[in-house]
Amino acid sequence: MTHPLEELREVALAEIAVAPDEETIEAARVRYLGRTGSISAWGERMKSLPKEEKPIVGKLLNEVRGAVTLAIEERGAKLRAAQEASALADLDISLPGTPNEIGALHPLTQMLDRAIAIFRRMGFALAEGPDVEDEWHCFDALNTPPDHPARAEQDTFYLPDGHLLRTHTSTVQIRTMESAPPPIRVIAPGAAFRRDEVDATHSAQFHQIEGLYVDERVSVADLKGTLEFFFHELFGPGTEVRFRPHYFPFTEPSFEIDVKSKALKSGEKWIEVCGCGMVHPAVFEEVNRARRDAAYDPEKWTGYAFGLGMDRLAMILFDISDIRLFAQNDLRFLKQFAA
Ligand code: DAH
Repeated sequence: MTHPLEELREVALAEIAVAPDEETIEAARVRYLGRTGSISAWGERMKSLPKEEKPIVGKLLNEVRGAVTLAIEERGAKLRAAQEASALADLDISLPGTPNEIGALHPLTQMLDRAIAIFRRMGFALAEGPDVEDEWHCFDALNTPPDHPARAEQDTFYLPDGHLLRTHTSTVQIRTMESAPPPIRVIAPGAAFRRDEVDATHSAQFHQIEGLYVDERVSVADLKGTLEFFFHELFGPGTEVRFRPHYFPFTEPSFEIDVKSKALKSGEKWIEVCGCGMVHPAVFEEVNRARRDAAYDPEKWTGYAFGLGMDRLAMILFDISDIRLFAQNDLRFLKQFAA
């Protein structure tokens, strides 16, 4: 005669053996082995059995519980393995992999790194200022009167609250002198913005490196020597550098610099690359007013300043014909500068 526990085992094992999925197995586990499951119920029933039956039924109960537990585990493992195998069956391992493309520095960044490295060697520190500026830092403090054409709406992006996008990095000259007394020797690379007609050589956003050097007895000769050295380092020793008299409100005298080099694709053509000059005493005086001291006494301190057009320099150096390429994110363009 078979014991009811043995019958229970047969039914349970048969059911588990054909369970189609993990939910069915879990339901079976709860039904047989759960706290109120039918096999577990035998544990309770044992207590009322005659003493001589207890060890026999107890042993059987352990066997049945063990066998059902094992069957549940094995069936579960089998189902999981089958599931994995079917997932892998759809995978074609003979397909070529997706290549991991490695990025490279943008040509403007490469240009910037080169320029910064050259100025670093001459002892210039890095300074920075915000892209969103006020009129005072962008114009007034730089001796640019309210009726100056650069302030007109057509050149400057004005924000509704009266702030503006800086039209040049010269704003950082003022911010640097406001925050520290002389001597000063900084470069400030960054973006500048103008409402220019966009074409091959004009972009609404472009990049500059501003330079400011303030000390005792700084002269035009220092300015010339520094920038000539810079352009020779950047474009090679055969580079010719020409200083042309010009006008900027914040420098006196002022110059524009043109460069020419046989080593460059532009060849025998002079190309304008920089504005510069000796800091105008009116700029020092305006800075003193803002600082409420006389740290920048124009009788004691002199200085030079310059503004380099970064996009222009990169276009010359890498022979790029259209400034708009810098911002278009076209990989066919960018990959040409990947080292
Ligand atoms: N800020 C001028 C511009 O964007 C460039 C410039 C000219 C900067 C002369 C200077 C400077 O520091 O001294 O056109």
